[in-house]
Amino acid sequence: KKLVVLVSGNGSNLQAIIDRCHGNNGIEISAVIANKEDAYGLTRAKDAGIEAVVVPSKGISDRSQYDSQLMATIDEYSPDLIVLAGFMRILTPEFVRHYQGKMLNIHPSLLPKYTGLNTHQRAIDAGDDEHGTSVHFVTEELDGGPVILQTRVPIFEDDDADSVFGRVQEQEHRIYPLVVEWFCQGRLNMANDKAVMDGEVL
Ligand code: GRF
Repeated sequence: KKLVVLVSGNGSNLQAIIDRCHGNNGIEISAVIANKEDAYGLTRAKDAGIEAVVVPSKGISDRSQYDSQLMATIDEYSPDLIVLAGFMRILTPEFVRHYQGKMLNIHPSLLPKYTGLNTHQRAIDAGDDEHGTSVHFVTEELDGGPVILQTRVPIFEDDDADSVFGRVQEQEHRIYPLVVEWFCQGRLNMANDKAVMDGEVL
């Protein structure tokens, strides 16, 4: 199976997927695409011998214009799966529909709680005693697609957003490659906006 991974920043989730999936069990990352040329994920891609491409979003204010450029670049690789790994842009409905059922995202919260940004701080401010991360299929609703896998982590009294972030990321690096593997094995799909695993609705 061919993957295209989209990043905007550090790319530690990309790294986990490279380490665990790339070149194994017929899984290949065909390209890593970033919207910013200084995204460290591009360096990680090159270090692994993977094509690293920038489709710069700077200076393009029109979302549809950007998304169609991005779509054209992605489609050059005819990927089976699009993996959003810290890609910090809201995608147009046209873009999302084009990859319906074959685009995954990881979001640092126990969805449906805390869609959007600053999730760690928001969980702390709310006095939550746990937080977590969710891998989900991407639908038109922001961070609203069906959840495939979630992990919980505790929030302790002396935690701050950074310490919770670190604890969450450790879990992200375990679960994202796992879900990518399931998808590539054909065990996972989306039907009627629901995630289905081994024929069972999750
Ligand atoms: C992750 O925490 C993910 O949940 C969120 O963005 C972050 C990306 O981190 N969508 P990295 O670039 O993979 O290190």
